[in-house]
Amino acid sequence: MDTSLIDKAAEILLKARHTVALTGAGISTESGVPDFRSPGGIWERYDPTIFFYDRFIAQPDFVWRQLLDMHRSGGLTIWSAEPNRGHDALAWMEAVGILKAIITQNIDNLHQKAGSEHVIEFHGNMLYVRCLDCACLYRYDEILDEIARHLPPRCDCGGVLKPDIIFFGEAIPPAALHESVEEADCCDVMLVIGTSAQIEPAASLPLIAKGMGSMMFHFMHIGKPDKRCHVIEINREPTPLTHEVSDFLIQGSAGEALQMIMERIQDLQGKAP
Ligand code: APR
Repeated sequence: MDTSLIDKAAEILLKARHTVALTGAGISTESGVPDFRSPGGIWERYDPTIFFYDRFIAQPDFVWRQLLDMHRSGGLTIWSAEPNRGHDALAWMEAVGILKAIITQNIDNLHQKAGSEHVIEFHGNMLYVRCLDCACLYRYDEILDEIARHLPPRCDCGGVLKPDIIFFGEAIPPAALHESVEEADCCDVMLVIGTSAQIEPAASLPLIAKGMGSMMFHFMHIGKPDKRCHVIEINREPTPLTHEVSDFLIQGSAGEALQMIMERIQDLQGKAP
């Protein structure tokens, strides 16, 4: 890992006014939660159409059965996973006032488990299910008996319960979308961690941070071309952002890089007059 970039990132973060992080599945792989597009990832083992919104509406029992199979076969190890040093480093950065918000595409609740408080869940949270009729929210572990009785599980009102995650073809929760755009629009540093940057509209948030606007959000009248913002990528491999949007890529393990950045910041703080 290029330690000069670790040092550079630590110095930028210490001087920053408003830093946000955009995280993807890559930050959770060191917790045993597979990502989607790496070799052996979820989309290599499961049919993505299971997660098409229209499919859930048409065949909720089938989709629930697939989800439970994924859970039982260990393909979706979300419920038992624990945060890793990457999640812990971001929680520390928030606790000491360096990090203002995390926008996560992940549904695994690991940022919250690590102690991060300002977490914007762009794709929802797998620990909850929501009624399609009355929007009542339940914790997943509150409906295990209901699931054992029949699929799809139903709300007290009779409506079908759906995992509170965003399926393909489903709108991003408006509050999460708006807050994420605001954070991207006002930040002067964005850490982009463990995402292949292939899924919109999340992949456009770094462009907004950079003041490059984006076709995805032109209707929100944002994107200041003169905006000054550092976009720092941390990822195992280059992504479409790397040579177009990011200031630099720290290539390697997100957990290792974030821990090294945290330790470098602590060194610099210790030396501060
Ligand atoms: N450290 C750093 N990078 C990692 C690590 C790691 N330990 N593990 C994986 N990565 C990188 C991979 O190389 C890849 O570039 O993280 C990225 C993960 O990309 P994806 O699997 O595409 O996950 P993500 O970008 O979060 O997907 C976005 O797609 O399928 C939808 O809704 C789903 O939220 C998800 C969205």
